[in-house]
Amino acid sequence: MFRKIIKIAGIILGVIVVVIAGFFTKAYISVEGRRNKHYAMDVQQVPMSTDSAILAHGARLAKVKGCTECHGADLGGKVFIDDPALGHIVATNLTKGNGGLSDYTKTDWIRALKHGVNREGKPLLIMPSEEFTLLTEQDMGAIISYCAQVAPVDREFPEGSSLGPLGYLLTDLGKLSLFPVEKIDHNRPLVKEVKAEVSLAYGKYLSTSCQGCHRENMKGGDPIAPGFPPVMDISSSGRPGKWNDDQFIATLRTGTTPEGHTLNPAEMPWTMAKEFTDLELKALHLYLNSL
Ligand code: HEC
Ligand code: HEC
Repeated sequence: MFRKIIKIAGIILGVIVVVIAGFFTKAYISVEGRRNKHYAMDVQQVPMSTDSAILAHGARLAKVKGCTECHGADLGGKVFIDDPALGHIVATNLTKGNGGLSDYTKTDWIRALKHGVNREGKPLLIMPSEEFTLLTEQDMGAIISYCAQVAPVDREFPEGSSLGPLGYLLTDLGKLSLFPVEKIDHNRPLVKEVKAEVSLAYGKYLSTSCQGCHRENMKGGDPIAPGFPPVMDISSSGRPGKWNDDQFIATLRTGTTPEGHTLNPAEMPWTMAKEFTDLELKALHLYLNSL
């Protein structure tokens, strides 16, 4: 009797192992296929500049858009995810130092930001190019002009990026946005200009920085990755709908809401949002309140 139970348990365990291995193999093959896909496109040009006001604008955008968050304050690159289950993801050294992008061309920069691929046309992992592709020509030009001239940093990551088993499974299930390239309309030209004023159009333009987590309707939802809190509703039906502009600005500058809730910058990146100007935050609040 006892032996029989052990035998049955063994069979069940064996079946479970085979099923999990099957799931994993399917995920692995599918994800590797997507990772090695080649994307070809005509690359549109953007205006570059060495003007100090435009470089300063580019420097601020590099903070607002999270370039410095992921690639390091000096843009010299950093290990962005290091988790045996999820994977080891390196955000590239963007400078001209050792381990960096020494012979990167302007077209390579645009290919990365607008299309989410490297110079070989292969997908860039995790980097949210589906947001950067919505930048105006002017703003993208300012970011690239700034990034391409920062001081060289020697920092090498010989190990490169790799995925763990959970990374494969979550990507295959659509729970981890590993390939932003797939969410981009590669034929859409960049928007020429959005006027900087307290308007719905400008607020909507700026809100692309919030979409990845708060969703397109800004009503929030499930956590963006395992271990993160659920994302709050910041449309008119959420708490920010009851705040005045000053309270909204103070929340994003200090990380503390009028209700006294403290936002953890690792979960809600207010350290990036605090770089928005007052005018930008007013436009953003106006837009959020219209939803
Ligand atoms: C959420 C994190 C994140 C943000 C935000 C981010 N990046 Fe990246 N970026 C990455 C990662 C990770 C890679 C490496 C991808 C890979 O190896 O496939 C990368 C790669 C790149 C590359 C490509 C290098 C190559 O190999 O061709 C460029 C250029 C780049 N980033 C520029 C930027 C700029 C400019 C910004 C801001 C507008 C930015 N990144 C914002 C994570 C990020
Ligand atoms: C990386 C994901 C992420 C991004 C990007 C992001 N948020 Fe958040 N946000 C969160 C999470 C998660 C919370 C809930 C945090 C908590 O529960 O402590 C939150 C909370 C907030 C709150 C507090 C709401 C309340 O009810 O107290 C405000 C306001 C907010 N976000 C505004 C923004 C704005 C504006 C942007 C874009 C400029 C933005 N967020 C971008 C993840 C994000």
